[in-house]
This record gives sequence, C-alpha cells and structure tokens, in this order.
Amino acid sequence: MKAKVAVLISGAGTNMAALLYAAKAEACPYELVLVTGDNPEAPGLSLAEVEGIAVVRIPKPTPKDKSRFFAALDIQIRKAGAEYIALAGFMRILPEDFVRAWENRMLNIHPSLLPRYKGLDTHQRAIDAGDKSGGCSVHIVTPGVDDGPVLAQTPVAIIPGDTPETLARRVQFAEHQLYPATLAAFVTRERSPDYLRARVRELAMALPEADEVTSHGMPCFGIVKGKKFAYFTEDHHGDGKIALLVKISGADEQAALIEMDADRYYRPAYFGDGWIGIRLDLGDTEWDAISDWLRKSWLAVAPKKLAGLMAIAEDF
Ligand code: GAR
Repeated sequence: MKAKVAVLISGAGTNMAALLYAAKAEACPYELVLVTGDNPEAPGLSLAEVEGIAVVRIPKPTPKDKSRFFAALDIQIRKAGAEYIALAGFMRILPEDFVRAWENRMLNIHPSLLPRYKGLDTHQRAIDAGDKSGGCSVHIVTPGVDDGPVLAQTPVAIIPGDTPETLARRVQFAEHQLYPATLAAFVTRERSPDYLRARVRELAMALPEADEVTSHGMPCFGIVKGKKFAYFTEDHHGDGKIALLVKISGADEQAALIEMDADRYYRPAYFGDGWIGIRLDLGDTEWDAISDWLRKSWLAVAPKKLAGLMAIAEDF
C-alpha cells in the first residue's frame, strides 16, 4: 500500500511535478491523491489535472476568511484520503490548529540551508552574506514559519557573479531531487522496524536507570538489576506485528483499551493481563503518547525510591 499524499501549491508547481513524476515509478512508496492550494489559477493545478491527479480549486482566501479557507482545505484533504501533506511552494502562513491537526504528517521544502534564511528572498540574502553555498531543505512543518526538524538538505555552490535568479535555477534542480527522495524516506520510516526500534530505544533509555537487554530475541527495557518495563516486538511468533509492550494496571484496563481501539491495542500472547500491546506499524504512531506509556510502565516497576525521585523531578 502506497502512502497517500496531498500536495499544496501556490504557483508554478515544479516541485509538485517532481513529486508527481517520481511517484510514477513502481517502487515509489507514495502516491499523490490530491493537488490543491490557495490559488485556483496556479499553473501547477492544470499540469496535475492532465496527469490524472485529483485537483480541487478552492477560491483564493481573503484575510477575513482565512480560517474558513483552512477548514475547507482540511476537509478536501481528508476527503481525498490523504495521510500526508507536502507543501510545495505553498506561500501562505498556516494557522496553528491546521499544523497541529497534521503534526508529523506535513513536510515543506524551503530554498535555503535552514536554519539560515527563513522567509523570503533567500537567494539574495545568501549572496549578500557572501555564503559559499545556498541550497534547499526539506523539513517537518511545525507552527513556526520555515521551522521544524530538518530531514534533509542539499547545498548548492554559489558562483561568483550569481544573481538570485541564476542561483534559484540551480537550487531548483536540487529541490527536484531532494523532495521526492525525502518524502519517500519519510513515509517509509513510520513503518520501518529499524526506525521504530530506534525511537522506542531512545525514549525508553531516557528514563532513569534504564537498561536494555535481549529477552526471547526481543529488545527489552528494564531498570538496572530490576524489573522489565517494556518490550519491542517484531513479528513475534510470526504475528506480523511491530509493537511495544508495556505494563498496565490489569485486565480491566486491558479490555477497555482493546475495546477503544482494537486495531492498535492487543493482548500480548504469553504476557497475561498486566501488559498491553500497542501497534507501532500503523503509520500514525503518536510518539508523545508512547513516551507517556513508557513512563507509566517504568513507574509501575521502579523501586519506591527511584519512583519518588521521578515524581519530584516532575513537580519542577
Ligand atoms: C520553491 O523554490 C520552494 O522551495 C519555495 O517556493 C518555490 C516554489 O516553486 N518555497 C518557499 O519559499 C517556502 N517558504 P514551485 O512552485 O516551482 O515548486
């Protein structure tokens, strides 16, 4: 199953085109399910249309109906079944609730080596500063403009005599390579065992006196010389699942969680009522929630003295 991506543009849409043509390769892990934006006249929309991608033309928003515009946009994106959004020259500041609704599911491409030169006139600013290179960055979108964790960058050398236009043209070549590759890696990683294991390891090992051992072939996290609080399971006994097992209060909580979301939560075989399995391979893992589960599980097994120290730390 390919990951479903909506692309938002405001203008030419050459980055959208790069994403679109890369997606025609059989091995590409994503497909475009929608191209839309804030400018019904954007040339990129017509290109997407002739290439058979669904296009929605939403009237240009006035400053007054900005929130209505973003609500309509959100509805269209969800209607198209998109799981991810790629901003490709979408020149509008996103409201915070829209960003939160797509947290960790929305990428942007920006024509500079972030964190340098957020905003506009990036090439002119790089030339004026005497930089050796300009370039482009793909990053996860967070509420700050052109902010958020950078996933990948390509430096592009500045040649003596470069103007913003000549530099921009070369940066565009770099953008068209960088964006499809980075988007492909991004949609793949949320289902990749190596990535999921590394995320769990990072969160589990950040807990006080945490220790990793291998138990029944699974990476397993416990308190040094103490009890285990988490297991990372990958196709255990051929169940085909990648999941985290953590401690819970017992059979009631276990049943309630499974009833609430039977796709995500399950009763781990051989572990009994005191544990819950949480699927990590559904592509929409909320890592803050996983971090909370790990902390609660750690607290359930930590010796009183250690647990007390954590409680004190949390009060600060
Ligand atoms: C691209 O260079 C992109 O990096 C930039 O707009 C251009 C869109 O070109 N985006 C930003 O500046 C976002 N802050 P395109 O429409 O041909 O893809």
